[in-house]
Amino acid sequence: MITIKNVALSDGTVRNVDLDSCAQRHIDGSGLTLLPALIDPHVHFRVPGAEHKETWVSGAQAALAGGVTTVFDMPNNTPSCVTAERLRQKAQLIKEQLQRAAIPLRSYLYIGADRNHLDEIVKVKNEIIGIKMFMGSSTGDLLIDDEHTQEQVFQIAATYNLVLSVHAEEEAIIRQNQQRIKPSLDPAIHSIIRDRQAAITAVERAIRLAEKHRTKLVILHCSTKEELELLRRAKRRGVRVYVEACPRHLFLDESAYQTHGNLAKVNPPLRSATDRLALWEAIHDNTVDFIGSDHSPHTLEEKQRPYDQAPAGAPGVQMTLPLLLDACNHGWLSLKKVIELTRTNIEKIFKLSPNDDVVLVDHKLRRTVEVADLRSKAGWSLFSEMTLTGWPVATIIRGNIIEVGADACQRATL
Ligand code: DOR
Ligand code: ZN
Repeated sequence: MITIKNVALSDGTVRNVDLDSCAQRHIDGSGLTLLPALIDPHVHFRVPGAEHKETWVSGAQAALAGGVTTVFDMPNNTPSCVTAERLRQKAQLIKEQLQRAAIPLRSYLYIGADRNHLDEIVKVKNEIIGIKMFMGSSTGDLLIDDEHTQEQVFQIAATYNLVLSVHAEEEAIIRQNQQRIKPSLDPAIHSIIRDRQAAITAVERAIRLAEKHRTKLVILHCSTKEELELLRRAKRRGVRVYVEACPRHLFLDESAYQTHGNLAKVNPPLRSATDRLALWEAIHDNTVDFIGSDHSPHTLEEKQRPYDQAPAGAPGVQMTLPLLLDACNHGWLSLKKVIELTRTNIEKIFKLSPNDDVVLVDHKLRRTVEVADLRSKAGWSLFSEMTLTGWPVATIIRGNIIEVGADACQRATL
């Protein structure tokens, strides 16, 4: 049993809390707050095929250091995870890596929708968290850009009541823009090539297909005001659609290209300050259902290549909680809302069984984001040098206490 004494809960009440564990531990929780551990429903831990960017050891360490004890991993691997055999091989690799490192992270896998392997989906319907479909191309070779095949995927998901999560950017618009716009190596061109209309058009179609087939649809990393308005209206009509927002779109905008160059190259791209505000509004009126980091690590060497050769993506699993706690301290949202966005809404939408994992946070701890404290193999962050107030100090997963943060050594007596 782990007993945490005098710890604040999210509603501010102070209590002693007992947690099931093989260990016998007493933790002085004074000055700390206990929250449910986070679920990150959108990570790319790069196994198999890109272990130089991340493995399940480095990825899981980053997750736990960020108060995350459950992740949903994406299928754009090398080779992409689009068959029952590949899914099972991937699950086995993950199990081995986590066991070798003795890290009890909870994980779920997406299968990728691929036009040549649509019949594989039903074979793994009880082993996956959902189907991921790329309506626009991104890292990897997954892409379904014609409406006919897209509709087939909506039908399959509806038939087996599987969640269909989509990367909604219209490939034809991106390609037209690539032809039309004068090439440039200025990373800011990324938001012009992958323009807002590409996202709006894809979201419009995804909503239409979900409405027609009664598919349980998730729009991943929603980034524009117009998409949010479409989604708000669809929800009012009773369409089964759920919306993810990413910290990168909530806390950064296009101005980040000036400071970060290609590091800020992500799909969908960063948008305007107005879109950022629209995302915060959509959090408050429940148009946004949950937050996923879209942890998509690439090495610094890869990101420092010229714009047209640099991959899109950025790490993030360790930063979601500190960013949200800092936002709470600024009065932008409540702790109750953080718990909904990072845990309870995700449990409901994906029908997960509950667990006791928690994260202890120091709501008043002020610290600057140091790359040295980040556990991802990426070795950089879009949020480095930001000074944030509110940090996790320990994550408790399946009764195991993982001390985290720069002061982990001082707190080792916890
Ligand atoms: O920026 C992104 N990076 N967006 C994606 O859709 C994929 C991801 C990756 O895997 O690198
Ligand atoms: Zn992603």
